[in-house]
Order: sequence, then C-alpha cells, then structure tokens
Amino acid sequence: MASKRSKEGPPDWAGFYRWTARRPPRELLLRTLDHIGWETKRPRRRSAIDLGFGAGNDSLELLRRGWRVLGIDQQLAAIRFLSRRVPPRRRNSLTLLQAPMEGLTLPSSDLVYASFSLPFCDPAAFPELWATIRRSLAPGGHFAGQLFGDHDEWAGKRPMSFHSARQVRDLAKGYRIELLREVDEAGRSFEGPKQWHYFEVILEKARGS
Ligand SMILES: C[S@@+](CC[C@H](N)C(=O)[O-])C[C@H]1O[C@@H](n2cnc3c(N)ncnc32)[C@H](O)[C@@H]1O
Repeated sequence: MASKRSKEGPPDWAGFYRWTARRPPRELLLRTLDHIGWETKRPRRRSAIDLGFGAGNDSLELLRRGWRVLGIDQQLAAIRFLSRRVPPRRRNSLTLLQAPMEGLTLPSSDLVYASFSLPFCDPAAFPELWATIRRSLAPGGHFAGQLFGDHDEWAGKRPMSFHSARQVRDLAKGYRIELLREVDEAGRSFEGPKQWHYFEVILEKARGS
C-alpha cells in the first residue's frame, strides 16, 4: 500500500499509481457506499473528499455513481495521473487540489474518504487534521479510511502516524461506528513483503452534532 523508495529518496509515488491503477475500487469504499445507500431514503447529489487519492480509482468510482468529488493529494504526479483518467462527461464533477494534508481547510462534505493515506500525515499535524475532517462532515456524514496500528512493520521506522487500538477508539468518540476492523497480517506492499497492522473504519457523524 505504500511506494517503493530508494534508501534515502522519496517514495516512488508515480510507480505506485501505475501499480494500483488497474485495481477495482477498494472494498472499503464499496462497503461505505452500500451503507450510505442503505440509509438514504431520498437520494440526492452528494459530495466527497478523497484525501490522498493516489491513482484515483476510488474517485472515479464515486464519480461514476454521481458524486461530486474533491480529490486532494500532495503529489503533482497524482493530479496528472487522475486528470488523464476522468471521462469528459464527469470532469465538471471533479475538482483536484495539489496540497499536503497537514494544515488543510476542508469544505463541507458528506463523505471524507482517506484510503491508506492518513498514516502519511506528519504525526504532529494529525490531531488537527482529524478535527478538520470532523468539522468538514455534514451531520449524518461519514468518514472512511485506515489508520496504521502501532505494531505495523513501519512503526518507529518512518515519520508517519501510527495509533494503538485504544487511540483509535478515542478518535472514534463522538461518531457512530459502522465499521472498526483490526487487520494484523503478513502481506505485500508496493515495496515487497510487509507485516501490516491497521484499523479500517467507517464512522458516521451523528446528526445534530
Ligand atoms: C498509499 S497511497 C493511497 C492512494 C489511494 N488512496 C489508494 O487507496 O490506493 C497514499 C497517497 O497519499 C498521498 N500523500 C502522502 N503523503 C501526503 C501528505 N502529507 N499530504 C497529502 N497527500 C499525501 C500520496 O501522494 C499518495 O497518493
């Protein structure tokens, strides 16, 4: 889920985008959309923020389903990659912003979706980002994404954000938890074999909060 990097160099994000581009939309997105569809009585046009959208597979799925999407990624390569993939008839529904997630201001939205991206936030900036996401969500809106656990193979080795199970439960306070699933397994990243530890969450902001 991360990118190749030379020993000292930055991640090979462009390589990661090519590696992931042929994949179907992620299960987490599909599950989130099923949940939202299930509880929606009167469908209306919805808006999503895809934070750290990467190759843009999930943004494209949201667009295909009629959502308006604000895609944010710090990599110009991501902006270019997704721009080339958007069908012309969907272009008006997509806004792309090249920006770091640290220090962001987000517009109001029905869904903030952050697939394997929040762990890349500078740990010092994470609490403010988490608060910003909550402020952005309309009442009844959803957050979906992953948070890396504290025994992920990269914990303590990379300047990324990792959370214990208890911290994740604290972050979920004030939300209704639709999904909180802990994954701790050997698998692969773009760089090769990896021990993954992450929490996959779908959270709903209570109406009236
Ligand atoms: C592992 S990829 C995930 C991409 C996509 N969401 C997916 O599920 O395949 C993480 C993405 O977050 C972006 N990213 C990493 N650090 C970031 C930061 N500090 N601010 C904004 N985007 C960042 C990267 O450019 C990359 O596109």
